Amino acid sequence: MENKSKYPVLENCTIAIIGLGYVGLPLAIEFSKKQRCKISQKILKRKIIGFDINPQRLEELKKGIDSTNEVSEQELLNTSFFDLTNQIESIAQADVFIITVPTPIDAFKKPDLEPIQKASITVGKALKIRAQSLNTTIPIVIYESTVYPGTTEEICIPIIEKESGLFCKESNKNTFACGYSPERINPGDKKRRLKDIIKITSGSSKDAAKWIDFLYGSIIEAGTHLTKNIKTAEAAKIIENTQRDINIALMNELAIIFRLLDIDTLDIIEAASTKWNFIKFKPGLVGGHCIGVDPYYLTYKAESMGYTPEIVLAGRKINDDMSNWLAEKLILEMTKKNFLLSSSNVLILGFTFKENCPDIRNTKVYDLIKKLEEYNLNLEIVDPWVNPIEAEKVYGLKVNKKHSKKIKYDAIVCTVAHHEFIKKHKSDWENIINKNGIIFDLKGIVPRELNAIRI
Ligand SMILES: NC(=O)c1ccc[n+]([C@@H]2O[C@H](COP(=O)([O-])OP(=O)(O)OC[C@H]3O[C@@H](n4cnc5c(N)ncnc54)[C@H](O)[C@@H]3O)[C@@H](O)[C@H]2O)c1
Repeated sequence: MENKSKYPVLENCTIAIIGLGYVGLPLAIEFSKKQRCKISQKILKRKIIGFDINPQRLEELKKGIDSTNEVSEQELLNTSFFDLTNQIESIAQADVFIITVPTPIDAFKKPDLEPIQKASITVGKALKIRAQSLNTTIPIVIYESTVYPGTTEEICIPIIEKESGLFCKESNKNTFACGYSPERINPGDKKRRLKDIIKITSGSSKDAAKWIDFLYGSIIEAGTHLTKNIKTAEAAKIIENTQRDINIALMNELAIIFRLLDIDTLDIIEAASTKWNFIKFKPGLVGGHCIGVDPYYLTYKAESMGYTPEIVLAGRKINDDMSNWLAEKLILEMTKKNFLLSSSNVLILGFTFKENCPDIRNTKVYDLIKKLEEYNLNLEIVDPWVNPIEAEKVYGLKVNKKHSKKIKYDAIVCTVAHHEFIKKHKSDWENIINKNGIIFDLKGIVPRELNAIRI
């Protein structure tokens, strides 16, 4: 690597991770491992400082508790963080700052950049303190949060420059370098972990980009992909999720059509996927803070440039309306079977936004429940993965870990394919559903003999 000496020493630099959530914590743990560098084969001896503004999160992590379930207690307790802190002074000794804070949307579906702006202020302040130390290497700031193309250079770097008094220009004396490397993990997926997924990297200069690429290359087994500039890396991440959103929207639209034609969409997909170039997406609820949110970052930027995207916004609308459509279909089926809605017991099986993960942010099951509540059904919500206190706090809903053993439900709606639900046998379902009852199976997990309604 050219001009290696101007940057921190790759194998034993100090790294501060800003934001210790689903993305930040696994990253901090991977960087902290005393493992062999995947490139130089030297032993990595890095100091890792975890920074988060949520004191409760820090306290839990210190006790070995990860409420996101991404990291086991053992792994967490085995990790020697140099510090877990919410103090800016404590991260001022870092050489590398990696920002993994949320990038949500506001009530108007516009990007809410407040967390990333605040994190940039924090890093700017830390860099100002660091600049007064004897450490003369160029510090590196890397963003991993999902953003629209241009955010890092147009919004974040100017904030750091203002707060630190440094410049993101390596021709100057008081400088820092910057990069963007999107996180592509899939929470709940224990097979494809951080180190198994190719890491896209980029940097504010050629040298910085190379350094950042080596930094990730040192821990990522799958390797890295260096893009020619920061905007390309930002855009790559946003289109991954936008493409997924649109593909699911297409399947949702097809499911609506096939319901009218009384054909099972999942059967159709199964048949169609025997062709080599058919892409097997399935219909479903699109919640969470990535797939259902990130396309709005792209549409916001496009609109700011005078272009109104049509396909992306249409896909968003279809996916957002899916909960209402499903609720109406269930009510229709129950009415056809002459159920008296106000005395019907309905079990909602699954509340998280995706399977095998405790994340309930922006779950579309909530929208489904809100719509069903209009019909005065006796609803019971069950999800073994959900923290009931959190569900009560965020949504004002009672979510049980287990369903009642005494009730035979008039309808069951399977919304999430948690492995606890997939492994249920035919008799388990028969034990909890009324003879005349309806099973609404959004994920295709109920044994076929039970004639569940599938979308
Ligand atoms: N979770 C995923 O599946 C996933 C996958 C890929 C990319 N992403 C992206 O990564 C980013 C982070 O997502 P996440 O799921 O880890 O979020 P998260 O909510 O799980 O974690 C974010 C953490 O940042 C902390 N935080 C918020 N503001 C802060 C600040 N100013 N300074 C320091 N800490 C702060 C929060 O307290 C929280 O602990 C988002 O942009 C998201 O879109 C997420």
